[in-house]
Amino acid sequence: MNQVLVSAPSNIALIKYMGKIEGSGNKPTNASLSYTLENLRTFVRLTEIDGGADLWKPLVREDLEKIDLSEKGQQRFLKHLANLKDKWGVTKNFLVESANNFPSDCGLASSASSFAALTLAAAEMFQKLNPQPWGTDKKTLSELSRQGSGSSCRSLFTPWALWQQEYAQPMNLPLTNMHHICVVVEASKKEVSSSEAHKLVTTSPRFTGRVERAELRLADLSQALQSTDWHMARQIVWDEFIDMHRLFETSTPAFSYMTEASKQVLEECQKLWNRWQDGPLVTMDAGANVHMLFRHDQLKRFKEYREFFGEKFKILAFEGVKPDVH
Ligand code: PMV
Repeated sequence: MNQVLVSAPSNIALIKYMGKIEGSGNKPTNASLSYTLENLRTFVRLTEIDGGADLWKPLVREDLEKIDLSEKGQQRFLKHLANLKDKWGVTKNFLVESANNFPSDCGLASSASSFAALTLAAAEMFQKLNPQPWGTDKKTLSELSRQGSGSSCRSLFTPWALWQQEYAQPMNLPLTNMHHICVVVEASKKEVSSSEAHKLVTTSPRFTGRVERAELRLADLSQALQSTDWHMARQIVWDEFIDMHRLFETSTPAFSYMTEASKQVLEECQKLWNRWQDGPLVTMDAGANVHMLFRHDQLKRFKEYREFFGEKFKILAFEGVKPDVH
């Protein structure tokens, strides 16, 4: 019986993918840059089966959190598998089991890590069954993963990934092993999915010029990170997520992911930065949670923030060391 078990990490974008070209298989309207969150992972086990159709089930393992995937979510996941099978010319059927190592009730999207893990698991399995010359090429796998879920194409590279058009590529930047805090202010499911958000933002008057703004910030941020100009990097990253959230708030119909608690966390971040003229890069995805990234040498500051926000909110916090992944 052929079986593979693979895991892939999540990632957080500092220059956001928001807006895609309709009917293009998730090709973005602008390039994005992300930091890979090694500690937040999805595990996928793929097993060849005799049955007449592919199946999804939660992966049950003591150290992992059981996922409860909606019918729609299962169909989307299995459709991605079917596309990968077509690409490799594989006709066998499979049981797909998946689970995250982070709780599903913390409002963290797992589509990036889960689609990346499924792509990698399928590639490993299908290369055994029907090897293809491009089957281990990361660029091709990133392109395939993108067609399942856009942001997943960045999860194939670590620690930095730059996604331009078809696929992501690694980006060499001096900042590695960053410490990460996610302040979980809203654990419930989002009312507007990111797929809907990609469509709605194009109705915002602020979408005019969005591509240019994102591209300019990408160039400036790459330079700031390259020269470790932390103050500049923090300002650009802040402007970028605010820009994305303004698009949401000025769409027709308008929507918002920010809650009073998110605003409170952002305000505290500003105050702490102003007090110390130092702190993390702060960003938010299409959700209410607030992510913070600290340089590896900011361990003391990371611990201060962990304590400060941990007293008032539910947080996930990871010191910047590579986890042991089994
Ligand atoms: O990959 P999707 O369709 O879930 O889009 C993700 C979009 C953001 O998380 C909001 C930004 C990003 O670049 O990851």
